[in-house]
Amino acid sequence: MITVIKIGGSLIASGPVENMLGDIARLLTTESEKIVLVHGGGKIITEYSERLGVKPTFIFSPEGIRSRYTDKETADIYNMVMGKINSQLVLGLAIKGIRAFGLSGIDGWTIRAERKKRLLIIDEKGRKRAIEGGYTGKVKEVNTGALSALISAGYLPVISPVAMGFEGEALNIDGDRTAAAIAAALKADRLVIFTDVEGLLMDGKLVERMERGEAKETLRKVGPGMDKKVMACIEALEGGVRESVISSGLVQHPLENALEGQHRTVIV
Ligand SMILES: Nc1ncnc2c1ncn2[C@@H]1O[C@H](COP(=O)(O)OP(=O)(O)OP(=O)(O)O)[C@@H](O)[C@H]1O
Ligand SMILES: [Mg+2]
Repeated sequence: MITVIKIGGSLIASGPVENMLGDIARLLTTESEKIVLVHGGGKIITEYSERLGVKPTFIFSPEGIRSRYTDKETADIYNMVMGKINSQLVLGLAIKGIRAFGLSGIDGWTIRAERKKRLLIIDEKGRKRAIEGGYTGKVKEVNTGALSALISAGYLPVISPVAMGFEGEALNIDGDRTAAAIAAALKADRLVIFTDVEGLLMDGKLVERMERGEAKETLRKVGPGMDKKVMACIEALEGGVRESVISSGLVQHPLENALEGQHRTVIV
């Protein structure tokens, strides 16, 4: 069984990934279980940008989806900070006795993305406008060679959401959707997305189970942050993954809860 897990930057920022890494170590004692980790880093990147005097900017697409605007300077900070978070997770896993192998999507050409040359945004005045795209990419290819080799050799791959562009650039890609693309490419059984809330809330209530079609319909009503997760869940399912879960990383046993518990969102 292959499980692709995404750990939200929201969790790493507040520090409590210990329990999750412990759960991962326990699951891996079952011989047939394979795990691939993908991480985010949003809040930590914002914090470092501010410390380096680069003001973070966020943009909204006409569909209302919020993203970080990545100019050249922000791309460099994004890349550096993702590297630091990646090592931090590899070290955290080492303490639990797990041999992890950290890489970005650049390494081994694992993730190729296309740079968005123009971005359509809704500006402060509510007008639709096209702006220079910066260094954000859309995932086009996942090359599983390096990942499969690492898994076969007994390593747990830990991937940061940085991709190799087709013109040799380092590109910022969305962590949730990267996890979905990797899950589909590896023909994973499950995608589990951990964040700082229990799951998808609609009208203040937790959605425990949803079908893909329903998820697509609700997408427009989902707020920033969660929208990308719902989209990622849909993309994973369309890529052949059986089950997508959005769950809290803040509970005592996050992975156990995500796989068997009640307070989570499962999209099938
Ligand atoms: N309908 C919704 N249900 C649940 N959470 C929602 C909803 N709409 C918006 N959110 C927000 O989505 C947030 C989670 O996404 P966010 O991008 O902030 O974290 P993350 O993805 O875990 O971190 P990172 O992006 O750094 O990897 C929640 O903290 C919540 O505030
Ligand atoms: Mg996010």
